[in-house]
Amino acid sequence: MRGAEGYTPAAKVLHWTSALLVLGLLAVGLWMTGLPLSRLKFVVYACHKWIGLVVLVLAILRLIWRRHSPPPALPTTVTPWERRLAPVGHWALLLLVLAQPISGWLMSSAGGVAVVWFGILPLPDMVPRNQQLFAVLREMHHLLAFALMAVITLHIAAVVRHDVLRHDGILRRMWL
Ligand code: HEM
Ligand code: HEM
Repeated sequence: MRGAEGYTPAAKVLHWTSALLVLGLLAVGLWMTGLPLSRLKFVVYACHKWIGLVVLVLAILRLIWRRHSPPPALPTTVTPWERRLAPVGHWALLLLVLAQPISGWLMSSAGGVAVVWFGILPLPDMVPRNQQLFAVLREMHHLLAFALMAVITLHIAAVVRHDVLRHDGILRRMWL
């Protein structure tokens, strides 16, 4: 269980698994759109969708786990403005890792490509096939990816500020 100052093992596993997958999906997503039409492109797109939906499941689990076991209180070294900003940043990350895969799933449905999760589980189409809606959702998926990258950059900068410059143990309490 959680110590006075740390996250629970479940919260840590969920955080670091999601973080690794999200960073990978962002890199692969930006790379795969430039690939020429080929079998490789088809396989990479499918894997991107499958792993993206794993992130959706992890984000939902994180939200459920947060209700059961809320994050630990911030150390006293954290200034009042940082104290106000921290939950805003964390909620932005949580909402973005929900919205990003949902927009991808919607986009695939609107584009007329059904998702068969890991090639085994056929998922329902979220919306009927519609090229105009597809274009809007594609743009949304693109914009959300850049919003996610911006917030992750700020998130990492905040961790560096706390742990490298101030040594207040913020990284340690999330570290495995
Ligand atoms: C956290 C999860 C996800 C992240 C971080 C992510 C990230 C990205 C990024 C960065 C791109 C490139 C965008 C661009 O250059 O315009 C992309 C493209 C794409 N993503 Fe995702 N994605 C995620 C989940 C999903 C899911 C769940 C699906 C579908 C079920 C999906 C379907 C697609 C498709 C089809 C494209 C290509 C769009 C095109 O050809 O323009 N993504 N994704
Ligand atoms: C790449 C995607 C990432 C996402 C989506 C993400 C998301 C989050 C979220 C939502 C929280 C709030 C705690 C929770 O309720 O789960 C959090 C906390 C934290 N994250 Fe990340 N994170 C990411 C990457 C990273 C990276 C690369 C680092 C390391 C530099 C990091 C270090 C931390 C730390 C130390 C905390 C705890 C802050 C505290 O004690 O209040 N995160 N993260």
